[in-house]
Amino acid sequence: MLKGRHLIEPGNLSIEELEGLFDLAEDIIASPAKYSEVCRGKVLATLFFEPSTRTRLSFEAAMQRLGGSTLGFADPGASSTTKGESLVDTIRTVSCYADAIAMRNPKEGAALLASQVSEVPIINAGDGGHHHPTQTITDLLTIRAIKGKTQGLTIGLCGDLKFGRTVHSLAKAMSRYPRNRFVLISPPELEIPDYIVNRVFKPAGVQFTQVRRLEEAIGDLDILYMTRVQKERFFNEQDYVRLKDSYILDAEKMRLARADLTVLHPLPRVNEIATEVDSDPRAAYFRQVKYGMYARMALISSLLGVSGWEGKKSAGGKKK
Ligand code: CP
Repeated sequence: MLKGRHLIEPGNLSIEELEGLFDLAEDIIASPAKYSEVCRGKVLATLFFEPSTRTRLSFEAAMQRLGGSTLGFADPGASSTTKGESLVDTIRTVSCYADAIAMRNPKEGAALLASQVSEVPIINAGDGGHHHPTQTITDLLTIRAIKGKTQGLTIGLCGDLKFGRTVHSLAKAMSRYPRNRFVLISPPELEIPDYIVNRVFKPAGVQFTQVRRLEEAIGDLDILYMTRVQKERFFNEQDYVRLKDSYILDAEKMRLARADLTVLHPLPRVNEIATEVDSDPRAAYFRQVKYGMYARMALISSLLGVSGWEGKKSAGGKKK
C-alpha cells in the first residue's frame, strides 16, 4: 500500500510496488475514463524552487486528468522564500492546504527534510544532483512498455554522469533487476560518482564498462540514455563550455546502432541529440514524456489511496 507514503528516492519503493505502479499506469493508458474523477476534491501542491517544464507540468496535467486540482509556484521568487521563510515553514504551511506536495529544490536532501515535517505525502521532483524518483519511474515504465522487460538489458548512459541525477536514480533502479549491464560513456571529468560504482554496482554484482567514445559502444546497446551536461551544477563557465558538446548523437552515429535500439533522454536537450534523430523510430524521448504523465497519474492516485486499483487479474480472476 502506497497510501500516505513519501517518495524521496526510487529505493523507497520495492520492486513489487514499482511493478504495481506500472500495471496501474498501463491500465490508466488503456482506460483513462475509469480514472478521470478519482481525485475529485483532492489538491496537489507543486512547489518548484528550480526551473522545470516536464516535471511540474506533467504533475499538474496528471492531477487534472484524475479530476483533482493543483496550486503552487514555479518560481520561489513569487513566494515568501524571498522574505526569508525557511523550507520547513513553507512545507508546514502548504501541507495545511494540499493533500500531497510535489517539490523540486536545488539542495540535496531538501525533500527528505520536507518529509520530516509534512502532514501529507512529499514527492521528490528533484533535489540537486541527488534523486529524481518520478523520472526513474517514468524511465522504467517507458523501458517496460517498449522493450517488454526491465531485465537482461545493456544500457548505455551517455554524457554528464557526474551531475545528472536522473542517471544516478536510473542506475540504482536498473541494478535491482537481474542481468542488466551498463556501458558508461563520459569524459573523465563527468564520470559516474564512485558511490554508484562502489555502493550500487559492485554489491549487486552488476557488470559495467567505461568508455570515452559513443561510437565504440552504440552498436552493443539495447538502450541509449542520453543526458544534458548540467550547466547549473558547474562551478565555472569555462569547464561547462569545454565539456558541453562532448557527445552529439546524430544520424551518422545512429547508423552504427542496432535496429532495436531505444534512445531515451530525460530532456531538456541542448545539443546532445541532433534534431535529425527525432524522426528515427528508435528515438523514444517524446514517448517517454507522455509515459511520464501516466506514471505520475499512477503515483498520485496511489499515494492518495484513491486509484481503486487492486492489481492485475489473471485469466482465473486472481490478482497477478
Ligand atoms: N526531465 C525533467 O526533469 O525535465 P524538467 O527539468 O523540464 O522538469
